[in-house]
Amino acid sequence: MTGQKVYIETVGCQMNVLDSELVVGALRKHGYALTDSPVDADVLLFNTCSVREHAEEKTFSALGRVRLRKHANPDAVIGVLGCMAQKDQELIRKRAPYVDMIVGTGQLAAVPELVAKVRATREPQLAVSLGRSDAGRNEVEASFVSYDPTRDPTMRPTPFQAFVRIQIGCDKFCTYCVVPSTRGPEQSRPPEHIWHEVRQLVDQGCKEVTLIGQTVNSYVHEAGDRRTRLSDLIAGMHDVTGLERIKFVTNYPKDMTDDLLNAVRELPKVVKYLHVPVQSGCDEVLKRMKRNYTAGYYMDMLARCRELVPGVSVSSDFIVGFCGETEESFQKSMELVRAAKFKNSFIFKYSERGGTKAAERYPDDVPEDVKKRRNNDLLAVQNENSRADHRAQVGTTVEVLVEGPSRMSAKATHITQLTGRSMADHIVVFDGPERLIGHTVRVAIKDASPFTLYGDVLTDDVVGADVSREPSASAPVPARPNKFSLPLV
Ligand code: 5AD
Ligand code: SF4
Repeated sequence: MTGQKVYIETVGCQMNVLDSELVVGALRKHGYALTDSPVDADVLLFNTCSVREHAEEKTFSALGRVRLRKHANPDAVIGVLGCMAQKDQELIRKRAPYVDMIVGTGQLAAVPELVAKVRATREPQLAVSLGRSDAGRNEVEASFVSYDPTRDPTMRPTPFQAFVRIQIGCDKFCTYCVVPSTRGPEQSRPPEHIWHEVRQLVDQGCKEVTLIGQTVNSYVHEAGDRRTRLSDLIAGMHDVTGLERIKFVTNYPKDMTDDLLNAVRELPKVVKYLHVPVQSGCDEVLKRMKRNYTAGYYMDMLARCRELVPGVSVSSDFIVGFCGETEESFQKSMELVRAAKFKNSFIFKYSERGGTKAAERYPDDVPEDVKKRRNNDLLAVQNENSRADHRAQVGTTVEVLVEGPSRMSAKATHITQLTGRSMADHIVVFDGPERLIGHTVRVAIKDASPFTLYGDVLTDDVVGADVSREPSASAPVPARPNKFSLPLV
């Protein structure tokens, strides 16, 4: 079918952003074009997240609004994809009976076929795994290698940055978390597949790859007597010509091994940034969360990261108001965040998730206003640390991969304000010509806010590349047709 348009909205983590990219790539092969307007679309897809209730409500309100589209265009196909599809098929059918297809995280490769079936039969289509045991490891592996890895650059964060999945699922079973049931068992992809995909991406002009997995540093692949760890995987792609940066997220504290930290230090293309969520500073809370470490263990691990990788930036996640979190236990998170000096932290209020061990075992007993207050208190301390961390960069010169115009430069001026990230993951804003987009430049840092560094680009100083002075076709301003979370209809 030609001339058909697909609209996709994505909520949630990088896994979902990548899944959406792959789904759109598959649909393009069937003649679909991407549209950023739900009004034009023949197929409307919602790639969903279940990690917190707020994300689910966002999807339900988007589905409420899309109902109007169904009135205007009864032939439009509406699909719910991803984690909520996996976890809440019944609820979706009840709250949004006009949804035509519900497709779980392991079945996304079938989206084009399911759309065709809806069109042919007008029957609703359901494709989900029945449970973790049902999503056996072989089936899971097949579901992601059967994806055509020819990627769709227009769906990426920018044309020169890409996510590469190296592992799916999670076996850690933190008691608050739905991921082990929505994404299935942990499985590491064969290294050859990953290296092949990275080479393909670099051939398409990609300069930075972010390797993603729920616990990316638990990556290990065994074949015969060969064992490939994350450090080996990174070393094996490091010398691909044209690849400039390698990142990996998200790390599990217990799996932060010295071989990996040594690789981060020794390999110049590896970004000196580690996201290692601690979740809480209180040992009893960590135990109820089943994180398998104490606050003391985490702080020792952090010291090891900083010792083995001088200058490394570390960021974290926290959950406040988890079941049974007393004021005293919360104060331990405050102490930890004060002492840890993270570059930044993502702080979440605990959201009870049906089907998790925490929902089964412990009452959600911290009132909402207390969760909110603890969130603000922790954030205030983190912001002070973020300010100090950013101020400490003033006077240094950093290498920035230029991602695009900054949000502030939307107004037409002769000079464009550009933005990108340093090798330690700091956001850097500076004035410069658009032809620098997609290149790595050196920027002298002059000023800092808690979240941004400001500086001057060192003129004509493009690292490791020859930049044409013409408005560059090789480095277009990235089109972002579908933002990661858009208002609907
Ligand atoms: N409630 C609140 N935050 C959660 N996270 C995961 N599950 C929950 C939940 N039920 C947070 C954790 C994790 C991040 C991705 O989301 O901090 O690291
Ligand atoms: Fe969820 Fe814990 Fe697995 Fe992270 S490590 S995805 S928080 S179960």
